[in-house]
Amino acid sequence: MADNDKDKPVDPHLDPANPDNRISVQRHAADSEHAAKIVGEIPERPRADKPVAPKMRKPTRKGLVQEVGSTGHQWDGITEYDNPMPRWWLWTFYATIVWAVGYVIAYPAIPLVNQATKGVLGTDYRQEVAAEIERFDQANAAIQTRLAEVDLDAIPGDPELLSYATNAGGAVFRTWCAQCHGSGAGGARGYPNLLDNDWLWGGTLEDIHLTLQHGIRDPQDGDTRYSQMPAFGSDGILERAQIDQVVHYVLSLSDQPHDDAKAADGMQVYTDNCSACHMEDGTGDRSQGAPNLADAVWLYGNDHETLTRIVSEGPYGVMPAWNTRLSEAEIRAVATYVHGLGGGE
Ligand code: HEC
Ligand code: HEC
Repeated sequence: MADNDKDKPVDPHLDPANPDNRISVQRHAADSEHAAKIVGEIPERPRADKPVAPKMRKPTRKGLVQEVGSTGHQWDGITEYDNPMPRWWLWTFYATIVWAVGYVIAYPAIPLVNQATKGVLGTDYRQEVAAEIERFDQANAAIQTRLAEVDLDAIPGDPELLSYATNAGGAVFRTWCAQCHGSGAGGARGYPNLLDNDWLWGGTLEDIHLTLQHGIRDPQDGDTRYSQMPAFGSDGILERAQIDQVVHYVLSLSDQPHDDAKAADGMQVYTDNCSACHMEDGTGDRSQGAPNLADAVWLYGNDHETLTRIVSEGPYGVMPAWNTRLSEAEIRAVATYVHGLGGGE
């Protein structure tokens, strides 16, 4: 060790021969002294196996004084006394064990492969739920039958039916429709807003009912509402420049910022390619689900980039048919609910 020390080159900053090192030599000496002091002050750690707790004197019920030992556990100098559990706590603990054993015997408790143990009381929560649902179904059977059979037009005029349909329809909506149309029916990009009076396929109760029964472009439903806007770009119907022109023309239809020269050229492109579905003035055609392009409501967005994409690639919005999932009464209920949201015609 000492040899090694000798071999070690002396730190030039600590060389006492150099008068410039006076301060750093002093600091170094002071630091070493301080470090030695700290080391010297660390108390020796008591060992876990020789308890250091002073014996606590605890009076017993008979008035005797009993010594309480340590468990030998200690953390950071805090020692754990070996006191017994409070009685009330212990008895409560035993009581919960007895209760648990009783519960496991009486009720379904232990999960097995297909089913939990049955329990001697024969309680079956599934049956209880089924019975409860059955009870509600029976209570509503009469009005549901009426709702499914009555003329659609008659629903809004019948306060009892209207109130039932709106409430039940709200529940159906929250379960089946909110994922796409939003819980408040406000829609999202590609999913129409159902609160406004801007309809792709029509907003009368009958229109909505038909849209729901058969869906929109649902490949599994032969009667689905169907139309297809061509993909003008990817199918090579229009040149890039023509698409740009017609997009400017579409922007001009709703008074949005656009390039006048391009829009003027786009007008001819529009007349030749778009007016068959979106109409000459851009107001759309509900019989083909072609949206109004002259208003402020957009299904996919109104910026130049989105419009270019829609015209180039063609939109293809799909909504599933609901007659395979919902009963006629449920479809009518949710149609009534949607119709009553504010945009109904
Ligand atoms: C998987 C998503 C999805 C679900 C779920 C869905 N919809 Fe739709 N819905 C759409 C899309 C997409 C359209 C628009 C299709 C198009 O572009 O023509 C649409 C269109 C509609 C329309 C026609 C709007 C119009 O302007 O004519 C109505 C009404 C409608 N949905 C109601 C409902 C109701 C009620 C439910 C619940 C039973 C529902 N939707 C569930 C996606 C969905
Ligand atoms: C065969 C009928 C048809 C033709 C032709 C047609 N469209 Fe469409 N267009 C539709 C339909 C249907 C939709 C809605 C489709 C959907 O929601 O999936 C639509 C949607 C759009 C949208 C989206 C509107 C929105 O609210 O987001 C734009 C923009 C549009 N068309 C522009 C055009 C332009 C420009 C042309 C001509 C170059 C054109 N369309 C030609 C049927 C057509």
